[in-house]
Amino acid sequence: MKPVSEERRAPEQPPPWTGPAATSERALPLDLPGFLTRERHRIHLVGVAGSGMSGIAALLIELGHTVSGSDKVSTLETDRLQRLGLSFREQHRPEDAGTADLIIFSSAIKRDNPILVSARNYGKPIVRRAEALAAIMRSKHGIVIAGMHGKTTTSAMAAHVLREGGLHPCHYVGAEIPILGMNAHWDSRGEYFVAEGDESDGTIALFRPEHTLILNIEEEHLDFYADLDAIEKVFAQLITQTVGTVFYNIDDKNAARVCRSLARGISYGFADDGDYRAVDIRLTGFASRFRVHRGGQDLGEAILNVPGQHNVHNALAVIALASELGIAFEKIAKSLAKFEHARRRFEIKYDSPRFLLVDDYGHHPTEIRATLKAARSVGCKRVLTIFQPHRYSRTKALRKEFGCAFDDADRVVVTDVYGSNEAPIPGVTGQIIVDEIVRHEHRGVSYEPRLEWVHRAVGNMLESGDLVLSLGAGNIHEQLSVLAADLVIAEKLKEVVGEDGEVHLYEPLSKHTTLRVGGPAQFWVEPRTEKAFAKLIRLCRDENLPLFVMGRGSNLLVRDGGVHGVVVHPRGGDFGRIDVNGHEITAGVGARLREVAYAGKAAGIGGMEWMEGIPGAVGGGLRMNAGAMGSQTFENVVSVRYLDANGEVHTKSRDELEVHYRDFPLLEKNFAVSAVFRGQPAPREEIVRKLEASQEKRRTSQPAAKSAGCIFKNPDSCPAGKLVDELGLKNAHVGKARVSEVHGNFIVNDGGATAAEMLELIEKIKTTALAKRGIELETEVQIVGEPG
Ligand code: EPU
Repeated sequence: MKPVSEERRAPEQPPPWTGPAATSERALPLDLPGFLTRERHRIHLVGVAGSGMSGIAALLIELGHTVSGSDKVSTLETDRLQRLGLSFREQHRPEDAGTADLIIFSSAIKRDNPILVSARNYGKPIVRRAEALAAIMRSKHGIVIAGMHGKTTTSAMAAHVLREGGLHPCHYVGAEIPILGMNAHWDSRGEYFVAEGDESDGTIALFRPEHTLILNIEEEHLDFYADLDAIEKVFAQLITQTVGTVFYNIDDKNAARVCRSLARGISYGFADDGDYRAVDIRLTGFASRFRVHRGGQDLGEAILNVPGQHNVHNALAVIALASELGIAFEKIAKSLAKFEHARRRFEIKYDSPRFLLVDDYGHHPTEIRATLKAARSVGCKRVLTIFQPHRYSRTKALRKEFGCAFDDADRVVVTDVYGSNEAPIPGVTGQIIVDEIVRHEHRGVSYEPRLEWVHRAVGNMLESGDLVLSLGAGNIHEQLSVLAADLVIAEKLKEVVGEDGEVHLYEPLSKHTTLRVGGPAQFWVEPRTEKAFAKLIRLCRDENLPLFVMGRGSNLLVRDGGVHGVVVHPRGGDFGRIDVNGHEITAGVGARLREVAYAGKAAGIGGMEWMEGIPGAVGGGLRMNAGAMGSQTFENVVSVRYLDANGEVHTKSRDELEVHYRDFPLLEKNFAVSAVFRGQPAPREEIVRKLEASQEKRRTSQPAAKSAGCIFKNPDSCPAGKLVDELGLKNAHVGKARVSEVHGNFIVNDGGATAAEMLELIEKIKTTALAKRGIELETEVQIVGEPG
């Protein structure tokens, strides 16, 4: 749902109710409060999907009007309102103005909106959202909650406490509030109307409330206001128009300066001279406890189940208000203890013994600092933050302040700016916030401009005991939801592999391939036992998760988008074992082929020296029937032990197995766990000589640079390396991917190559070989994953 503060006029657009066109508009009904609260009309809302507008729609429906609305998007909120009686169109049609008695529009709506143009032509009355709200409030005793931070929480808290206190308040707040049921509600029984005032476009000056709460005053919305002075003027006007009491935060220097001299002022805060004071504050995890003093009198203890010191301030504002309205402190304290957060205000998205994921709407440096402080106090080991700057104008104006706002975060991933309805400002990106944070000497900050990859960046950093906090008023919370969904699976995988095994989210496969390219594995899992591997296979089957086994990644080209599903890397434990028995060597799939060759040397077993030349592990050697020096894996294999698609274990001897050149089809759907290799007794000197010959061959004919070994299978007519050489393609390159000058069948990574570049180069070679020699080259290297 869109926050109230997003419903703002694009700065370059003059408001439709001013300027020459305004003179052609029909005069408003003389008595707008009466029109809206005592009569029944047809009313159309332009931009009804915004959180502020949807609240007005809800109020008007409850007031008995026939309400229609239009927006360029439909949301959960418009769906809900339609169930209540809203007639909704995902399009602004000029004719909708014709049938309405009144048009209400959001500040995000441009002057040339077809409905507004048509309404002007019809001479229909047109009012701004805030004007409508102010008019509706006039029929009750209005209570306006104003300030830069904490408005939604505090207005929700106030409505809740007044409701529990039996006052039947109407309310209007800027977000979905589970405890209140709706973001706006009309209750004809009560006298009070609690509303969150929006200072972002100056419209709070339209209110004439009974009481006002000033939470804080700070530089914000500098796209609208010239400076702090201009902001204070609007607040001062609201205060002047307040009939009853102005409650203000004495600890906020600007609020205190503006309000201190008011005869109708009541202060609250931690300072000694506050009228309502919180003392003896204890912040514990998600809760806080404090005692409340009024003047010299101790009113009692309050317990708050929303975290952070800033919420103690917010609660204190509500305690002061509710007490002055005559609600007994015990009643207030009881309802405060029951208060639950608004959506996107320190909202817990995932909670397990190992991880905590929290989403918060904070997007101003002060809010970020307060939320991070609250996150710190929860008692997790580390706080990892993902932050999406909101609006280009704010990013530009407050970049320095943002730079110092993340001190309480261990790691920060910043993404690009969420523009809301603003046009981009050249040079203003998430990078400028990163630069400021770095300048502030924070060592754990990184930039991930692709929003859809942010969950990967933070997910790969996760360690048990971490809290992940998403911050921003745009759509960064969707990334936290993706992370939460993947964490549910990751935790099941962890349970399967146990303490010894490892599970990492979004592990970059470039770290695990010899070619050093490739995007991440959604779930990287390292089991240590055959039993755990079998359980993994069954879990993946039950959860419908693709499973891919990866050894040392020496013959693998992973695309830049990475591998979806589980990538199992059997390493160590059962999989790293090498046992010699007579002339046979049993090796786990995680052991390197090279180690088998050296185990043979140690035991005086010859015939396996060629394995020295293969960088891969036993598993990969089996899968590919890898070869070198004229030999291949299955010439030495006695038997293979493997798990089938149901995790059942089998052992098959060599003569039961179908094997081809560079291919062992059994492992397409089954998973090897170990193999028995056989050599023959040989004199040590002979083994050493053969090992050295292999090393020499590698050293002299193959590149030392990062590669995936031979890229193509050798065609019958000519070795692929020779062919590429003869085609004159050595040193041919695409970006940082280059055909080795040492060996034509190797493509090397010159540093930072992408899979896309590798693939383009492979295609180029294949096309040339076919065009010039009529040879269809087939890749030996396995190509997996999604495009980037
Ligand atoms: N050749 C050239 N130009 C080149 C490369 C090779 O003329 O740029 C010629 C060589 O002089 C030789 C012939 O091509 O006459 C074959 O080359 P090489 O002896 O290097 O063997 P290969 O067939 O290219 C195979 C394996 C390698 C293994 C070597 C050494 C395949 C596809 N490749 O290479 O395995 O290391 O033998 O035993 O079977 C791998 O599979 O990843 C791999 C590196």
